[in-house]
Amino acid sequence: MVRMYFIGDFMASNWKSRKVVIVGAGAVGSTFAYSLAQKGFADEIVLTDARLEYAEAQVLDLAHGLPFYPPIQIRVGGNEDYSDAQVVVITAGVKQSPGESRLELVKKNAAIIGTIMDEIVAQKSSAVVVVATNPVDILTHIALKRSGWPKGRVIGSGTVLDSARFRYLLSQHCQVDVGNVHAYILGEHGDSEFPAWSMTNIGGVAIDDYCHMCSKCDDWKTELEQIVRTVRDSAYHIINYKGATYFAIGMALVRIVGTILQDQHSILPVSTFLDGEYGIKDVCLGIPALVGQGGVHEIVVAQLTKEEMDALRRSAAALKKVFEQLQE
Ligand SMILES: NC(=O)c1ccc[n+]([C@@H]2O[C@H](COP(=O)([O-])OP(=O)(O)OC[C@H]3O[C@@H](n4cnc5c(N)ncnc54)[C@H](O)[C@@H]3O)[C@@H](O)[C@H]2O)c1
Repeated sequence: MVRMYFIGDFMASNWKSRKVVIVGAGAVGSTFAYSLAQKGFADEIVLTDARLEYAEAQVLDLAHGLPFYPPIQIRVGGNEDYSDAQVVVITAGVKQSPGESRLELVKKNAAIIGTIMDEIVAQKSSAVVVVATNPVDILTHIALKRSGWPKGRVIGSGTVLDSARFRYLLSQHCQVDVGNVHAYILGEHGDSEFPAWSMTNIGGVAIDDYCHMCSKCDDWKTELEQIVRTVRDSAYHIINYKGATYFAIGMALVRIVGTILQDQHSILPVSTFLDGEYGIKDVCLGIPALVGQGGVHEIVVAQLTKEEMDALRRSAAALKKVFEQLQE
């Protein structure tokens, strides 16, 4: 006899197995939801926002695409949704007001992230928390401390976006498929970030060797320096013209969350807590880490050059200074 109910039972028992809650349904949160829904990595996407009607409108707009996505549920939710989520992505935050200092803005967003984290913990959630709100390294650290969870379970988007920008620009410059460009921007997601040239290769050939053999530009050292400056200024440039960046960060978040949901063991430069790795302690910053189910499994300790180690220490010091100012 054909058991017609089997598929129904199967779907019911698995329906919530890949649930992602997005806190903050603004430009980044909604673009992430849109990209994640199309990938088919999640069964359920729940959006929450301080502005309920805004979240409802975003969900309606997204849900009208249901006939065109892989099977998925998209809905508005609340704190109770944290309890059985596999991943909670925080994109909630406020923007800088006129006349407000950078530190004042950080304090406001730190308070928001702290409260959200308390609510996640109160729901006895077993999710991995991924923070995207800026300044992402500081807020990841705040969220981790507030949770009391193991360090790998609270991570930030780190320099995944910056590294994607770097790879894109290198691929354009070298006229090579971006999939063959392996490159990382490390440290703070911000002004003190730096390129790890010693880890950069094209098709397995170290970048210096590749540039020596390639004859497509006259002065490759100057060109590479310009690429790094462009990566660093990308966000300022885009925000100047259109007010926010959201497409590429949406995709970067899909990469991170997809890796967690699929236990993919990908090495990504997420923001994670350093506890002596690279000789650095008590700070979250973008560093290559093995990511899978449960979050960061381990930090990859690469053989950085002296210049790169100095840059990493400078970045850590800059972040620690802001973190300490927050405690005052
Ligand atoms: N990490 C990265 O690489 C990266 C890249 C781009 C943007 N960002 C950051 O992502 C954040 C969001 O950017 P955006 O463009 O989506 O901003 P946005 O203003 O469009 O969205 C933020 C949303 O958060 C909501 N919100 C505010 N306080 C809340 C609270 N307490 N609880 C729930 N929701 C709350 C707001 O109502 C708003 O809808 C910013 O901090 C931005 O700097 C990070």
